[in-house]
Amino acid sequence: MDNIFIEGQNPLSGSVKISGAKNAVLPIMTAALMAEGKSVITRVPNLRDTRTMIRLMEIVGATCTFEDDKLIIDGSTVNNPEAPYDLVKTMRASFYVLGPLLARFGMVKVSLPGGCAWGPRPVDFHLKGLEKLGAKITLESGYILAEADRLKGTELSFEFPSVGATGNIAMAAATADGTTVIDNAACEPEIVQLCEYLNLMGASIHGIGTPKLIIDGVDKLHSANIEVIPDRIEAGTFLTAGALLGEITLEDVNPKHLDTVLLKLKEAGCGITTTKSSITISPADSIQAVDMTTAVYPGFPTDLQAQWVALMTLANGSSVITDTVYHDRFSHVPELNRFGANIKLENNTAFVRGIDELIGAPVMSTDIRASASLIVAGLAAKGQTVVSRVYHIDRGYEKIEEKFRSLGANIWRKNPVT
Ligand code: EPZ
Repeated sequence: MDNIFIEGQNPLSGSVKISGAKNAVLPIMTAALMAEGKSVITRVPNLRDTRTMIRLMEIVGATCTFEDDKLIIDGSTVNNPEAPYDLVKTMRASFYVLGPLLARFGMVKVSLPGGCAWGPRPVDFHLKGLEKLGAKITLESGYILAEADRLKGTELSFEFPSVGATGNIAMAAATADGTTVIDNAACEPEIVQLCEYLNLMGASIHGIGTPKLIIDGVDKLHSANIEVIPDRIEAGTFLTAGALLGEITLEDVNPKHLDTVLLKLKEAGCGITTTKSSITISPADSIQAVDMTTAVYPGFPTDLQAQWVALMTLANGSSVITDTVYHDRFSHVPELNRFGANIKLENNTAFVRGIDELIGAPVMSTDIRASASLIVAGLAAKGQTVVSRVYHIDRGYEKIEEKFRSLGANIWRKNPVT
């Protein structure tokens, strides 16, 4: 298993290109299964999760070629609507094949994703939505079996604007008989791009980017090409490092996707300048403690909560950080305290008392974003940090140590990823 080593406190400077968004490309890949013919998706990040999704595409029968950042998916050969447990258990996003394969084949068998490092992650909204579309759902030894001759348009409302459930239902409804209205739909940029992609494939989705999606079912979808949007979570991760260690510029990003995060960084005393496709951050003389509560888009993303906690450990004063999206996503806190940070947890709230200096330590990754927060802390800490189980970070960050090294960090990996 790889470890990432960091000699902390190197100042950062220069610019780095942000990769395509993991959480946009994963559902776009499963949408491509709905069409015969070749779809060309560009700006695809080379991650464990995208490679896992390619494996799943091939298991269901699609033909994939992935070179540089270009992925070609040929849906003509899809013939096996089944997602096996040993793959789904490694990546919850595999559940995104449910809607597309059910819509195309009238039946699909997908393993229940199970929990993850920070607790159970149910899929009840996905299943209830498909039942509303007329699917018969049964549970058979850990697998969901969904069947429907043809899905029927319906009206449904999510009790929580679930990103995954909105994606799955939008894909399933795209070729349903009649119109589907989804109330309280997710508005994340990744779901916006998925809906835009479905429309490029011939779907008829309206209200994209609003909590009310209206989907007029069409008979068939065709293949389509798209360039993936920039990864706002990777960008936000680099911004928290820049806030601590020096002026850096992120290239090929969409600042609009990070409005709330940029506001919070300014509140913490950082300088922020943006162009249409770049963000430059300059660190505050001393980081101000700023309370933060996560929320669905356009609120502060839960996927940057751990990185914000890491930043606040070195702030001037105390801050209160609450995660309202996941109530148990704080596995990074005990690890951050190993750097000498002063964080107390109470339910879904972290109480951080800023200190002057973190001291490097051996720490362990538990999930993608927790690992990122440990790297940010290690870059700012005095002395050496060793982050273990970095396969977590490789799920969601492309060449993270190379990118930080290019900005001046002293960071390397042992047993490099082959
Ligand atoms: C997506 O997960 C992202 N993953 C997550 O990013 C992200 O944290 C999350 O959205 C929230 O923004 C991908 O896009 C691949 P949800 P998803 O359904 O779709 C509850 C990362 O680090 N819920 O919006 O699974 C759920 O438990 C990953 O890149 C139900 O109760 O998230 C959670 O509390 C981690 N029942 C809340 O809704 C359901 O059927 C939000 O979950 C579905 C969700």
